[in-house]
Amino acid sequence: MSTHNVWTHKGTFLLAAVGSAVGLGNLWRFPYLAGENGGGAFILIYGLTIFAVGIPILIAETMLGRASRQSPIMGMRHLTKTHDTSRAWETIGWLGAVSAFLILSFYSVIAGWAIHYTWQMLTGSLAGADAETIGAGFDALLASPGLLTLYHTLFIIASGLIVGLGIHRGIENSLRIMMPALFAILLVVLAYGIANGDFAAAASFLFTFNIADLSLEGWLEAMGQSFFTLSLGMGAIMAYGAYMSGEASLTRTAFAIAVVDTAVAMIAGLAIFSLVFGAGLDAGQGPGLMFVTLPLAFAEMPFGALIGGVFFILVLGAAISSSISLIEPVAAYLVERFDLTRPQAVTLMVVASWTLGLLTVVSFNLWAEGTIFHALFGRSAFGFIELLTNIFMPLGGLMIALFAGWALTHSEVMKEMRTSEGWFATWRFLVRFVAPAAVAFVFLRSIPQIEGYLIPTIGALVIVGAFAAGRTFLADASREQ
Ligand code: PHE
Repeated sequence: MSTHNVWTHKGTFLLAAVGSAVGLGNLWRFPYLAGENGGGAFILIYGLTIFAVGIPILIAETMLGRASRQSPIMGMRHLTKTHDTSRAWETIGWLGAVSAFLILSFYSVIAGWAIHYTWQMLTGSLAGADAETIGAGFDALLASPGLLTLYHTLFIIASGLIVGLGIHRGIENSLRIMMPALFAILLVVLAYGIANGDFAAAASFLFTFNIADLSLEGWLEAMGQSFFTLSLGMGAIMAYGAYMSGEASLTRTAFAIAVVDTAVAMIAGLAIFSLVFGAGLDAGQGPGLMFVTLPLAFAEMPFGALIGGVFFILVLGAAISSSISLIEPVAAYLVERFDLTRPQAVTLMVVASWTLGLLTVVSFNLWAEGTIFHALFGRSAFGFIELLTNIFMPLGGLMIALFAGWALTHSEVMKEMRTSEGWFATWRFLVRFVAPAAVAFVFLRSIPQIEGYLIPTIGALVIVGAFAAGRTFLADASREQ
């Protein structure tokens, strides 16, 4: 049935999934969110969500990919047929493909900033610069549509070339070189941070758990971040899962992905905050933490330009190993559905996502205010696209949990999971009840952000969706378990 191939080795799925999971989410987003939301308290919620919700959904998403051996859209279509469930579950595939397309459009723009900083560091342009100069440099970058477009273009072309070469020659081969190099660089930066910065302050900031520090907003951010960082609900893991060896263990692989991903976030946090505190700077800088605060710390330290340059190469590599996993689900769909060649499919996805990315580019400058997006939705185009992904991502995760937990029978799951009854029962309890409750909670995060015409639009969607889902769900949940 399948036109797909399988990864070369039993462990390649793990490599690819770690490549997808470890990205800007770990190196850029996690440290600044932790910095803004009270350090340890944020990490506690983040960690709990990773293990209680992230891992069970990770297992479910991989399972759906491997069971179908096709791209998320075609795969879900296939599963609803073979498992005799409602066609409505195909939405999982569509949500994934649309979110992957949306995320790639802005992920590429932000990753492009790292190209700029790699260059600035390695040419020594920032050596000895003061806070004002570095802050002004970042503002000038964001104010330039030309520069942002140039970097966005370079980044997305590089990602497209890798996926265009195919899963073996492109994805596997590049990850096999990139991932070990990334871990080595991360350790170098950590060692540098320990030697030159204030490691004790970083550790106490990250590991002092004071729940009172955490606002509701921070709580929701932590849970949303644990989804984003594990690449859940976006078809990426499902698409990679379609190539996973039938012999690899779903449970062990999911734990390994979560542990490595969390470890990378922690090490990045320790390294970055050692440098930031060592230079006497503030942890709560928000998105500018990596692009303003950190370059400033490097500017003041011995060999800072060199290590800083190497650090931004790490950011770039981690971002590329994630962006290729956003291209793959859509490209694989186009190949299966329309019989395109892989290079054609990748070109289509990349060109479309690049074009949409221009909206993110101008959101920082020409269209920073007063556009139709501001009038209708109270935010820039970039803000709007990001909001959509914040809604689609938990929704996709929720549906994956419900489908795997309720629509698949015991024997269907066991065929893939091959595990003890005890762990099966635990997993099923988590995907049936805990994950949906947690996801509904993450979803709340988006509600205060919903304004203007979004209220009736999303309200109507939710009502129709709940009605359709309720009917489908009741029918499928009453199948023979
Ligand atoms: N997990 C990636 C990161 O942490 C982002 C990502 C999300 C990649 C979804 C693929 C799919 O940066």
